[in-house]
Amino acid sequence: MPLAPTASLTHRLVNQVLAIKPLWNWARGRARTMMIKRAEGIGVDWMGRVQELRSRHSDDDFSPLWQTDLEALRNPNLTYPAYYTTSFHAYDEGNLGWQPALEVEVAALAVHAKLWPGAGPQGDARLRQSYHDVLTYHLSQPPRAILDLGCGVGLSSETLQVSYPEAKVAGIDLSPYFLAVAQYRQHHSPSPSPITWHHGAAEHTGLPSASYDLVSACLVFHELPQSAARAIIGEARRLLRPGGHLAIMDMNPASPVYRTMPPLLKTLLKSTEPYLDEYFSLNLEATLVELGFEQPIVVCNSARHRTLLASIN
Ligand SMILES: C[S@@+](CC[C@H](N)C(=O)[O-])C[C@H]1O[C@@H](n2cnc3c(N)ncnc32)[C@H](O)[C@@H]1O
Repeated sequence: MPLAPTASLTHRLVNQVLAIKPLWNWARGRARTMMIKRAEGIGVDWMGRVQELRSRHSDDDFSPLWQTDLEALRNPNLTYPAYYTTSFHAYDEGNLGWQPALEVEVAALAVHAKLWPGAGPQGDARLRQSYHDVLTYHLSQPPRAILDLGCGVGLSSETLQVSYPEAKVAGIDLSPYFLAVAQYRQHHSPSPSPITWHHGAAEHTGLPSASYDLVSACLVFHELPQSAARAIIGEARRLLRPGGHLAIMDMNPASPVYRTMPPLLKTLLKSTEPYLDEYFSLNLEATLVELGFEQPIVVCNSARHRTLLASIN
């Protein structure tokens, strides 16, 4: 859908503002403050919960076990794609650090708090449930092997495992810090069966071909330049068994929430999401078909999110 002339003017203005480093720094600082305030407004003790995780409920300010776990999970042969080693979500280190890893859960609670009126801290769980409702409705049988691309700290892998308790679930992510938190979370609230964590890039996972019934990418594609998005869809196709499905749940560019977002809010959002323009301008449906999938089913699963479900023969 073409952007209205006023929208494209706003779009250019927002990008010009963000090209000026001090303004960009101001915007991302402001975005972070807003998120922490929102968390506290819905009763989430941001600082307290992060500190509990830092110390692992010990007397240490920062538990040394984090570093041990990180070393065990880290793939020493991995080269990070250049697009990934940049600032995301107002963190200079992007996804490659302890602070972002320890704050993922509280940030998700804040970001998704307003998706449904009065949802508050339940908004994140509700969003994930709305995604699984779409999958369960459209999949003719429960998947037995699932790969969660860009699994982060495991929030998406855990809910996949709960939805499909008989399935073997694996998660892959480029951030070993996030994976260390995912592993720790799992030890403390075990899922029906253990999830396997892989440190790697979703575009070349190194995992065996035709070995999954469902490949899921939950809230990942908005963090990708278009070249990476295409490469990941190609890799998902390789990983799926015949009849398998790729499911992508993420922001819905057609949502009126984004199309009519006030310029200040849009500036704050874009200051924390470097590839948002590329994501919003990628025709994911057409890309899926071009890369060998059947025409996807597209379902709006929140006022701001959509799920695409595409199968292969
Ligand atoms: C917004 S988080 C979503 C995490 C999780 N799926 C969830 O629903 O909470 C996006 C994740 O994608 C990961 N990621 C981004 N690009 C990736 C890539 N090329 N390969 C693997 N993981 C990637 C990031 O490290 C981050 O953990």
